Amino acid sequence: QLHTPALPALQGKTLLITAGPTREAIDPVRFLSNHSSGKMGFALAEAAAKAGAKVQLVTGPVNLPTPVGVERIDVQSAQQMHSAVMQRASAADIFIGCAAVADYRVAEVAEQKMKKTSSNDELTLTLVKNPDIIADVAALSYQRPFTVGFAAETENLASYAKDKLQRKKLDLICANDVSSKEQGFHSEHNAITAYWQGGELALERQPKTALATAILQLIAQRIQQQQP
Ligand code: CTP
Ligand code: CA
Repeated sequence: QLHTPALPALQGKTLLITAGPTREAIDPVRFLSNHSSGKMGFALAEAAAKAGAKVQLVTGPVNLPTPVGVERIDVQSAQQMHSAVMQRASAADIFIGCAAVADYRVAEVAEQKMKKTSSNDELTLTLVKNPDIIADVAALSYQRPFTVGFAAETENLASYAKDKLQRKKLDLICANDVSSKEQGFHSEHNAITAYWQGGELALERQPKTALATAILQLIAQRIQQQQP
């Protein structure tokens, strides 16, 4: 079958993508997590694989089939995701951090199921900060991939996203307004505004599959612009 791929620039490139939520154990039967469905990351993985890229998808627990041609690495916690990513990051041409990584984990995971006590009406969990996966990838001094982040915000979308672009030293960030039920998280649709040093592009609300292709096109364009 003869066809021209929509994304010729991705042919033969290696993409490392994170997707989904992470789960931070409290005890053997409980965890902290978030509402990420993994759909955006899986759509990016599928579109990149269709474009002829070698795709590794490091994912937290999600209810989605593995896209054809994608190598899937399942993890649970942010620490596991961090180590799975750092093992592979230097071999990647492009890293896309689409996962909703839990910012904190429980300081001391209980070995046994925690019991409700009659004396305590309050329970305090102490949390400690997780490693910042994308910031660690972007900080690689040797063989650093082109690094793309996502920012899910409920307010001050542009300023928070631009701040993350600078602070984490990303090449591109896709800002996503998750205050609306019409897009983001469990929705099949999403709209994003992408920011990079000295530029931005709004991508209108559309199915996540179509949006994934548009984001990959933008990434390919930005990589071409960066090259002298
Ligand atoms: N990210 C990551 N590791 C973390 C936290 C976030 O790799 N421990 C990545 C996400 O995958 C995303 C980007 O960083 O690509 C922005 O995530 P976000 O949660 O919006 O940023 P934070 O720095 O955690 O800021 P916030 O306080 O808004 O949660
Ligand atoms: Ca966060």
